[in-house]
Amino acid sequence: MSRKAVITIDGPAGSGKSTTARTLARNLGYTYLDTGAMYRAVTLSLMEKGMPIEESDDLEELLSSIHLDLRYIDGEQHTFLNDKDISREIRSVEVTRAVSSVAGLRSVRQYLVAEQRQIARKGGYVVDGRDAGSVIFPDAEFKFFLTASLEARAKRRQKDLAEQGVEIGLDELKMELHRRDEQDYSRLESPLVKPANAFEIDNSHLSVSEQVEIMEKRIKES
Ligand code: CDP
Repeated sequence: MSRKAVITIDGPAGSGKSTTARTLARNLGYTYLDTGAMYRAVTLSLMEKGMPIEESDDLEELLSSIHLDLRYIDGEQHTFLNDKDISREIRSVEVTRAVSSVAGLRSVRQYLVAEQRQIARKGGYVVDGRDAGSVIFPDAEFKFFLTASLEARAKRRQKDLAEQGVEIGLDELKMELHRRDEQDYSRLESPLVKPANAFEIDNSHLSVSEQVEIMEKRIKES
């Protein structure tokens, strides 16, 4: 690889995109761009203002007035909304419940996609999301699409939540993931798709390091 590339990783909730993207970026000396965090930040902003999740003049005004900023502290992406670090708040159960509806709004997508292109345009980024390889960077040098069974994804989510002290049953998590999948796959605006030329990996039975190894091999061989 000569020029620093753009590498995209798409896939449904719980498919391991963020862990994989973070590890791959670290191994390659790239920066990880977590686009989901940006949708979560806009969601939090709407919730704080008590605004309904729909297109409106108020939403347009909100989008033109908020200041969303990604800063990297010890190699980790921190999301700042109007100069406040909201990295933890955007992972709440409430934001997670509402984010897919907010991500279905065209004006929100237009605003965030423009920001994301601006951030990663020079290359050297691993970008994860639902539309990273299909809409944000259709010409990315490397595109991956991660999948895993609903069972495997729910178990991972359960483990992540348990580490944050939140206990949620497997059936409830499966329902929640299934609901978000349906919304992400079926929405009109940039639905979740496997991008053209993306390399698909089902990681239900792979560890993070096994999977990253497969990806690095593919990148280095081309
Ligand atoms: O980590 P997890 O898969 O739970 O979600 P995330 O990456 O933080 O994204 C949260 C939600 O934002 C997704 O369920 C999508 O509805 C939306 N999203 C999107 O529409 N487009 C992106 N590029 C990233 C996220």
